[in-house]
Amino acid sequence: MVSPGAPGFDTLSDLEAAALLQLTPPLAAYVQGGAGEERTLRANRAALLRYTLRPRLFADVTKLDASATLLGRRCAAPFFLAPTAYQGEIHPDGELATARAAASAGILAAFSTMSTRSLEEIARAGGAGPRWFQLYLQPEFEGSLRLVERAERAGYDALVLTADVPVFPYRDRQMHSGFAIDPDRVLGNGPGVTPPSRALLRPDPSFARRHDARAGWEVVDQLRASTRLPVVVKGVLTAEDARRAVDHGARAVIVSNHGGRQLDGAPASLDALPEVAAAIGDRAEVYVDGGFRRGADLLIALALGARAVGLGRPALWALAAGGEAGVARWIELLRTDLASALALSGRRTLAEIGRDLVRPADGPGPDHPRD
Ligand code: FNR
Ligand code: LAC
Repeated sequence: MVSPGAPGFDTLSDLEAAALLQLTPPLAAYVQGGAGEERTLRANRAALLRYTLRPRLFADVTKLDASATLLGRRCAAPFFLAPTAYQGEIHPDGELATARAAASAGILAAFSTMSTRSLEEIARAGGAGPRWFQLYLQPEFEGSLRLVERAERAGYDALVLTADVPVFPYRDRQMHSGFAIDPDRVLGNGPGVTPPSRALLRPDPSFARRHDARAGWEVVDQLRASTRLPVVVKGVLTAEDARRAVDHGARAVIVSNHGGRQLDGAPASLDALPEVAAAIGDRAEVYVDGGFRRGADLLIALALGARAVGLGRPALWALAAGGEAGVARWIELLRTDLASALALSGRRTLAEIGRDLVRPADGPGPDHPRD
């Protein structure tokens, strides 16, 4: 939990181990773990291994450009920091460190309702950098609206509505570890801000009335009517829900199983991506997160229809290992790894990435694609 002077890792491969040296076992279980027996957590990584890359030789790669436009904002790379709660438990600088490192690199970062710093402080730390606010619906819709208003005023570029946490599930690894956040802990966004419901795990007499557990798709329309920020729905895993999100006015969806932390048994995000991308077409932007770690992982996601890829745990590992310097170093390593993967696959820009870049490892590639 202490910030060493240097990040403590030299490559993307030793990042996770460097982080684990800094975390108490319960905190490590919270960060690393998933729901239930962690089938979905494992599936996220396993799915990536079922694809390989089909390189194109002798492409002039002297000019590489991996920049991406995400909801109208130019970002330095097609990856972003997924929203994660309680960053102050991982490093004393918490969200301020991730905000500074992401903004200096021109990388998009999303910040959780359950941040340990206020959304206003985070916005100041991130200055002019691209930034999204992640909303957990509050027990009363008025509470959600207050957060949205604050995010809009503080200059966030979009609102990410996380839809896959109407309740918390058992997370067995976390439970065994004894991990607990003091339920009375005041979150950075203020004493009125409430985490998602744990009603299935412990009694909560207010459960039946809680808007976060009751809300239907019309909440997307209601949010749109109350803010000029584009609404992004996070947690979509099927074509049906993708269509609903867009029908209700979402400007983007994030294909996500919450890093394997919610419905154990949900598909790997990568496996759900093609059906969501096909259902949405060009009606909205499609993002994905869950298990992506390296440049090659990003290329596979982009080839299967994602515009950009979110990373959750790796940013926390970097934060644990070295605070702001750690996150900055990790971003630099990932950008370089992505640039190498682009160049070595003979693609110079993201526009040159298509379905023909990937081949299912155990099946035929696309039918003899032509240039
Ligand atoms: C998360 N995630 C998450 N999502 C969200 O919308 N709001 C939140 O507060 C959190 N909190 C959170 C805490 C921790 C410790 C983790 C690991 C994850 C989910 C996150 O945004 C993202 O969907 C996953 O982390 C992506 O998977 P990987 O990259 O961690 O494998
Ligand atoms: C988690 C919640 C906070 O995944 O999103 O721990």
